[in-house]
Amino acid sequence: MVCWEFALVLSSAAGAIAAAAHASSYIQYSTVTGYFLQDDNSTNATTFDYTAANFGLINQTYSSDRANAASLTQWQKFAILVSSLNAKSPKNVDYKVLFMGRHGEGWHNAAESYYGTPAWNCYWSLLNGNATATWSDAHLTDNGIAQALKANAFWLSRIQTQKIPTPENYYVSPLSRCLATANLTFSGLPLPAKHAFLPTIKEKLREGISEHTCDHRSNKTYIHDMFPSWKFEAGFSEYDELWTGVTAETDSAQDLRSKQVLDDIFSSDCSTWLSFTSHSGEIASILRVLGHRPFSLNTGAVIAVLVKAETISPSQATSTISAAPWTASPHCTAPPVTSISSGANGGCVCPNSAAPVTTTLVAVD
Ligand SMILES: *[C@@H]1O[C@H](CO)[C@@H](O)[C@H](O)[C@H]1NC(C)=O
Ligand SMILES: *[C@@H]1O[C@H](CO)[C@@H](O)[C@H](O)[C@H]1NC(C)=O
Ligand SMILES: *[C@@H]1O[C@H](CO)[C@@H](O)[C@H](O)[C@H]1NC(C)=O
Ligand SMILES: *[C@@H]1O[C@H](CO)[C@@H](O)[C@H](O)[C@H]1NC(C)=O
Ligand SMILES: *[C@@H]1O[C@H](CO)[C@@H](O)[C@H](O)[C@H]1NC(C)=O
Ligand SMILES: *[C@@H]1O[C@H](CO)[C@@H](O)[C@H](O)[C@H]1NC(C)=O
Repeated sequence: MVCWEFALVLSSAAGAIAAAAHASSYIQYSTVTGYFLQDDNSTNATTFDYTAANFGLINQTYSSDRANAASLTQWQKFAILVSSLNAKSPKNVDYKVLFMGRHGEGWHNAAESYYGTPAWNCYWSLLNGNATATWSDAHLTDNGIAQALKANAFWLSRIQTQKIPTPENYYVSPLSRCLATANLTFSGLPLPAKHAFLPTIKEKLREGISEHTCDHRSNKTYIHDMFPSWKFEAGFSEYDELWTGVTAETDSAQDLRSKQVLDDIFSSDCSTWLSFTSHSGEIASILRVLGHRPFSLNTGAVIAVLVKAETISPSQATSTISAAPWTASPHCTAPPVTSISSGANGGCVCPNSAAPVTTTLVAVD
């Protein structure tokens, strides 16, 4: 078990030793395929509805099935399978099931649809909002609230009809749309008392950090006031120290951050069933780190993944992530004259009156 070793190190010695243990080992993740429709290349992510397919769990018999298998639901049988994988695995191997939910529709999603992606990226996304909507650290729209309530109803039905193992621990991005989605998704469910819904807010589960104001989180005091009983991870800062509004995190930098948050959770949390509430870009990045096929989630959708984590010596690692420096994205200081979906400068064609933000932007009459 990956976490067992670290738990021992952390409880018996000072942080310096824990840090040394981290440096001398590497956690390599992979997705165990064959159990969920979503990790099969033939499943179309665009049309896949997790609520119509039992979270994608494939109906099948397992070698771990017991004599009473006929009286158990697929999720109960899968729970036995996962515990048998953990029971039989060497000490350096750990299996966990992640339920990763994307937040429901936020005002920034509505605005991107309203203005169109190029105009959104070139101009509107840099503002805090328009005359009628705010999208800096966007809140959920009514549609987004309905999507989170749909997830809530689906969890309830899985608990009632499938006796699904519910998450033992919950981790949430610090952005408001995820906090609200997690709250609506998991409130009011008949959860076991020892695994009640009491999430931990993790800085590194946030969305890819672009210059867009929707990626700028609120201060810790504000978050605490919204959900006073929720936990912050150690070291969570009062103010957002990552968002600059000037440069954007690159995909590789985001993947490195995703690996760091996975390493953090896998080496400190010995439980098997975990919930993450995060974002489309961040879940896509986590899936890359897990070696899962690309699977983009609609707003409010949830993906379940069976993960194998192996703690190995760094020299045995088959792939490591090297993070490219953050870069500036071109944009205009006034609404662009035209919205083109691709091309130079991300499709931004600024009006002459507006100073383009990078020198390579094209200004036209
Ligand atoms: C799924 O597709 C990827 C990329 O095309 C390929 O590398 C992989 O082998 C495929 N997996 C299966 C099980 O077919
Ligand atoms: C997936 O479904 C969408 C919507 O029906 C369709 O446009 C797309 O071509 C499909 N993708 C594949 C790979 O079949
Ligand atoms: C699995 O079987 C159940 C009950 O027999 C059925 O309702 C469900 O649609 C099946 N699920 C999948 C993903 O095929
Ligand atoms: C502001 O943006 C929202 C989408 O987030 C849109 O519905 C609304 O119509 C816009 N308001 C104005 C005044 O353009
Ligand atoms: C959290 O969810 C509950 C149940 O849906 C709701 O009553 C409450 O207002 C929510 N809290 C916040 C701060 O959104
Ligand atoms: C935190 O953010 C809230 C909402 O934006 C603001 O009203 C408050 O003054 C901020 N608090 C601190 C300590 O900056």
